[in-house]
Amino acid sequence: VRDWNGVEQVVLRSPRGAYARVSLHGGQVLSWRNDRGEELLFTSSKAIFKPPKAMRGGIPICFPQFGNSGTLEQHGFARNRIWAIDEGHPPLNQNDNSSKASVDLILKPSEDDLKYWPHCFEFRLRISLSMDGDLSLVSRVRNVNGKPFSFSFGYHTYLSVSDISEVRIEGLETLDYLDNLSQRERFTEQGDAITFESEVDRAYVGSPNVIAVLDHEKKRTFVIRKEGLPDIVVWNPWEKKSKTMVDFGDEEYKQMLCVDAAATERPITLKPGEEWTGKLELSEVPSTNCSGH
Ligand code: BG6
Repeated sequence: VRDWNGVEQVVLRSPRGAYARVSLHGGQVLSWRNDRGEELLFTSSKAIFKPPKAMRGGIPICFPQFGNSGTLEQHGFARNRIWAIDEGHPPLNQNDNSSKASVDLILKPSEDDLKYWPHCFEFRLRISLSMDGDLSLVSRVRNVNGKPFSFSFGYHTYLSVSDISEVRIEGLETLDYLDNLSQRERFTEQGDAITFESEVDRAYVGSPNVIAVLDHEKKRTFVIRKEGLPDIVVWNPWEKKSKTMVDFGDEEYKQMLCVDAAATERPITLKPGEEWTGKLELSEVPSTNCSGH
């Protein structure tokens, strides 16, 4: 499929009816639906589907810089580039292709990118939808440079939620976090699951590889699994910041929560010829009424 700007999009479907749509603009997942046809990712009603900015929603890929802690534009340039389909890509392993619908994308730096970030890389991204409708993203960055380089990274995942005040995250309790709302000062999270009543912008460092986002009202739990990505960034702009974003509705902060598997505290360094892999797997499970929560 092509969108109205002529940018290609790829649709993935599972035999049971789950669905995902990926744009070559940014290699960004724009939609992920379960087999009941329910959309699981947030997209702003004011989103702009036009390069050179990433669409507000889905899963923008933040590379080679997460956030604004370096010299590049916020969240790096990968989310603003047009990726290519990696036709000749061999399967990651023999079994991987059998039960999954997947697409392989590739990004290499343009001449212009090399002016701002002078490191030759190949970024391969495999996006798959499993039989059960789980969405997985596997990023592999290879250094094809003569010198080492470092980068930070994040899967900027906009989850769709019923009402932010009914949502909680389990798995980040007692961890240290860097608070972007106070110059990345380091704090320690207290013992309870995380709930929301004001703006949040935190990087939980050294987090477990499985966490859960519980949406009480929709009786739904998102399970987030990650590998190769030590941190989890949690972001909700809340009321005041929402009003300053042109591509975000004033009230939409109630319907979204960004929970990003990321490598942000410590950059990843690749020597010449080395490759890094960072995985994200998202599953949606209906919560049972008798879970006691
Ligand atoms: C979050 C950052 O990951 O992304 C926030 O922690 C930032 O600080 C947000 O505001 C959105 O970024 P952008 O560039 O997509 O508007």
